[in-house]
Amino acid sequence: MPTVAIIGAQWGDEGKGKITDYLAEKADAVVRFQGGNNAGHTIVIGDSVFKLHLLPSGVLRKDKLAVIGNGVVVNFADMAEEVKQIEDAGLGIDGLRISDRAHLIMNYHKKLDGAEEVYRGNASVGTTKKGIGPTYQDKIARYGFRAGDLLEPELIREKTKFLLPMKKDLMKLMGSETCNCSEDDFAERLIGWGQKYGKYICDTSVLINDMLDEGKNILFEGAQGAMLDIDHGTYPYVTSSSTVGGGICSGAGVAPNRIQKVVGCLKAYTTRVGEGPFVTELEGAEEEELQKKGGEFGVTTGRGRRCGWLDLVVAEHAARLCGITSWAITKLDVLNGYEKIKVCVGYEIDGKVEKHFPASIAKLERAKPVYEEFDGWEDWEDSEALVSAGMDSLPENMQKYIRFIEEYTGIPADIISIGPKRSETIDRTSGWWN
Ligand code: GDP
Ligand code: IMO
Ligand code: MG
Repeated sequence: MPTVAIIGAQWGDEGKGKITDYLAEKADAVVRFQGGNNAGHTIVIGDSVFKLHLLPSGVLRKDKLAVIGNGVVVNFADMAEEVKQIEDAGLGIDGLRISDRAHLIMNYHKKLDGAEEVYRGNASVGTTKKGIGPTYQDKIARYGFRAGDLLEPELIREKTKFLLPMKKDLMKLMGSETCNCSEDDFAERLIGWGQKYGKYICDTSVLINDMLDEGKNILFEGAQGAMLDIDHGTYPYVTSSSTVGGGICSGAGVAPNRIQKVVGCLKAYTTRVGEGPFVTELEGAEEEELQKKGGEFGVTTGRGRRCGWLDLVVAEHAARLCGITSWAITKLDVLNGYEKIKVCVGYEIDGKVEKHFPASIAKLERAKPVYEEFDGWEDWEDSEALVSAGMDSLPENMQKYIRFIEEYTGIPADIISIGPKRSETIDRTSGWWN
């Protein structure tokens, strides 16, 4: 079974990094296909905690390719810091590959991201201010620099002459602090990135497809989540890329019929960072309790994550859009000790119960969650002992909770995560990779 994708089924931060790292053991390559360093993927290995923003989680395992696909936006300056983190931990980046078609995040994109947020005032999106939106805007407007350009100094100089003055004008217009960099300095810096990282830049679609032809195992690592998708998420409170299953095809250069398993990463409750509708959001002390128990603070921005109950209207939306074939249910342990746990199974909007996630933000704001209530379960001492004993040893009410999710969505929970470590994972996949 050579291709598996991992996609966030909510608003991001579902534990994709942990699950990717776990499944990467048997993969030959881990591929990012969208987003950029707005992502924050945490991986706990023994006593070490790694926080990856751009690099695919495969970089933490030896002898794997870690591929940045064409749909990703890359900030080389920020990437250099991440590479340092990896090298400081005694790991190399020999397996890194960057698509020559991936677009580049420039400083002016970051500045414009901040300026656009100010412009929006009360309607701000709450972006990570990493320049993601402005970089994708330039890609669509055909103004982008691509990684492959770094290997062509003349092209870089030519594009700089046209683009830098335009961006400086735009920054002035937007009231943003502008960059003082001269055209020469700007172009030389980019050419320098090419000299430093050029050996990693290649046609990653050819690379991935050749590996698939050879029967190699490829793991696609999604960033953000289905509800942040530019088309299908809570627009305009979304990110600027295609986070759903289809994003893999365009963002990695692989055809739809090559993707066999899609793992939806589903947190046992819901979180969201930034602005936008959130029907099952808790308030006050209840929200604070869940935030604290789950350690729900952003990896990229440090912001407190908004917290609420699990929402199966959201899960259905994600499953349909991404073709999810298995759930990886994460952070179930965070719900230990709750007396009652709620799960949303519909939205009451204007007196009618909706089962499908609506497009209208106004409707979402009027929506009242329809809940099913479950009895909670007790805390436990030793997660690893539970893992070795398997699913049947989990508290009875937790098993009921998992079975309800499976029955409601019609999708098996093949991976159960009850702690941040690799060893705190119950694997019911029975060896997809073999
Ligand atoms: P990602 O963006 O989807 O990779 O998720 P983040 O890394 O932003 O956030 C998930 C957080 O939950 C990280 O701190 C993980 O270490 C942690 N985590 C992942 N799975 C579990 C789990 O099953 N239980 C607990 N308690 N923590 C988990
Ligand atoms: P991972 O991969 C959670 C959110 C931001 C903001 C919106 C747009 O760690 O799950 P952007 O900077 O992308 O233009 O911001 O998207 N956002 C995320 N929320 N997890 C993420 O990534 C996110 N990446 C972006 O908070 O609301
Ligand atoms: Mg995250």
